[in-house]
Amino acid sequence: MDDRVSAQLLNWYDKSARALPWRALPGEAAPDPYRVWLSEVMLQQTTVAAVTPYFIRFTESWPTVQDLAAAPEEDVMAAWAGLGYYSRARNLVKCAREVAEMGGFPEEEAALLKLPGLGAYTAAAVAAIAFGKRAVVVDANVERVVARFFAIDEPLPAGRKAIRAATDRITPDRRAGDFAQAMMDLGATICTARDPKCLLCPLSADCAGRAQGDPARLPVKAPK
Ligand code: ADE
Repeated sequence: MDDRVSAQLLNWYDKSARALPWRALPGEAAPDPYRVWLSEVMLQQTTVAAVTPYFIRFTESWPTVQDLAAAPEEDVMAAWAGLGYYSRARNLVKCAREVAEMGGFPEEEAALLKLPGLGAYTAAAVAAIAFGKRAVVVDANVERVVARFFAIDEPLPAGRKAIRAATDRITPDRRAGDFAQAMMDLGATICTARDPKCLLCPLSADCAGRAQGDPARLPVKAPK
């Protein structure tokens, strides 16, 4: 069952992945770690649509982590203007300088977690997407898909523990990065917050939330 979920999802991703500028082109072995890291930092708290033009401008101005490391901080801050959460931009420069000094990005999640601006989500995402490591990647989209698929109705934030454990169970040993991005695409385009399009969903046959009749009620959030 658990392998079947990832197999179905990866099969869907092979046909339906969004073409996003930080992803490897079809046939390309792996995306550039610098581009993966930059995109994941930009995508913290910001949508794909808002990030895309910034990502393109950044990678044109600074095609490698060495280029970004050599940039004056004020140039990077100016290029970041409009994306918000400016501590991300300051950490971006700090991180680029550390990584350039180290001679490249570390590949292990634990080492990535020590870099400025990388939290649990970003470290797992970069390890999986850029380096093919098996890491459990959970963002808000993944949280929603998994809460629905397993009908986990323990309210967030407490329910996050069960959601993470369930995500771990279905994360494959191979292609963990594609799996994570497939979950994000599914959450962004089909298993959306208000209006899930279950008829289009590659996982609908096994989805407990759908079987119960009202997947949009999940995940449940604790009252503030
Ligand atoms: N949101 C955050 N990271 C993403 C990615 N790699 N693909 C799609 N959506 C994302």
